[in-house]
Amino acid sequence: MSAREPVTDWETDFDHFDPTYVANPYPVWDELREKCPVAHSERFGSMWVPTRQAEIHQVAYDTDHFSSRGAVVINAPFPPEMIQEGGFAPPITSDPPFHTGFRQMLLPAFSPKRIAEWDPLLRTMANELIDDFIDDKQCDVAKQYSKHIPVTVIALMVGASPDDRAQFTEWIHYTLEVMPTDPETAMPHLLGMSQYLFNLVEARRKEPEDDLVTYLLNADIDGEPLDSMQILGAMMLLVVAGIDTTWSSIGASIWHLAQNPDDLSRLVNEPDLMVTAVEEFLRAYAPVTMAREVVKDVELAGCPLKAGDRLLLPFPSANRDPEAFPDPDKVVLDRKVNRHHAFGAGIHRCLGSNLARLELRIAIEEFIRRIPEFHLADPKTVTWSSGQVRGPRSLPIVFDKINA
Ligand code: HEM
Repeated sequence: MSAREPVTDWETDFDHFDPTYVANPYPVWDELREKCPVAHSERFGSMWVPTRQAEIHQVAYDTDHFSSRGAVVINAPFPPEMIQEGGFAPPITSDPPFHTGFRQMLLPAFSPKRIAEWDPLLRTMANELIDDFIDDKQCDVAKQYSKHIPVTVIALMVGASPDDRAQFTEWIHYTLEVMPTDPETAMPHLLGMSQYLFNLVEARRKEPEDDLVTYLLNADIDGEPLDSMQILGAMMLLVVAGIDTTWSSIGASIWHLAQNPDDLSRLVNEPDLMVTAVEEFLRAYAPVTMAREVVKDVELAGCPLKAGDRLLLPFPSANRDPEAFPDPDKVVLDRKVNRHHAFGAGIHRCLGSNLARLELRIAIEEFIRRIPEFHLADPKTVTWSSGQVRGPRSLPIVFDKINA
């Protein structure tokens, strides 16, 4: 991949892969919200970036002008064989009316009751991971902890072997971090993921089990069964949507606690705070920026958007908008009113939010129960993912006090 020119003007040359933005996007959004508020760039074709909650909200709710077929910004056209009605990963890449039936079909698999069944397994998993490093008095939270919980859950959920976890994380890295700027390098990995999931579908066709593939094989939309491409697309989405996102949220929350001992000790001593604290971590460190394709000319905060333009939808910036939240940069563990956009807004609002919240809560609860005091080993060694999902990918911490 060729080196990227550094950004010198965020208003006119926005780049979500710029190292400055990857390391710390918050000052960029603050500046744009105040001065702009919709940035532009030609780096991925004509691309717009609203930064205030008002415009982000407006776009998320307007499916007439903004299509989800452009849910990820990529600087090359998608291979035609991956394009189908509803996009390559329904329902996140689908628009109404197709979106409505597809989402409806998936909803029961993510009901609060079904998701609550994961609680005991999640706790066991968290503790087994902690057992592996607790005596070392140090660990890399991103690599040894936060990453493994979501990938194991998703592998089990879709009916794959948890032994293939490393393969899943590699595929997701290529899909989310490499594909947008270097599709040629990423494509063989995407095709590898697609082939793996295809084999899984074929295996369940012969021998059904209690998993999501079998669920999709038995499902129908208005009486019509799903075709193979739809099943494959939904599986690809669940793998991509369910892993990096939650990995990022767990990591960012623990990163915050490692640097804020008062918040850490409050959470250890007042476990009832966990519910509001989880929402506050989701608000302050929301990991997901989505994207849309403009399908009809439209004005956004006075900017003339043309059909065919791209648009980034940084929900994390909406969550730091001072017009929407008092003290937006402050993490307030018991924030009372917290209508954040970490899970999006409108018809595409996250289907996995019950699962994400459960994973996040249990991962933090078990971590601080066993390791009630910890801090960063060295802030310079923390690294962050690039692109549309943001979270720590290396997070070394040290600790003394443990509850074995
Ligand atoms: C902290 C973790 C997570 C965050 C922050 C998150 C965030 C989001 C956001 C912002 C959207 C909206 C997309 C849009 O507007 O285009 C979304 C959609 C979606 N998410 Fe999540 N997500 C998380 C975890 C999960 C998990 C664990 C799953 C399931 C395994 C999941 C499945 C989905 C699906 C299927 C959609 C598409 C819904 C639709 O298009 O109707 N997500 N997510």
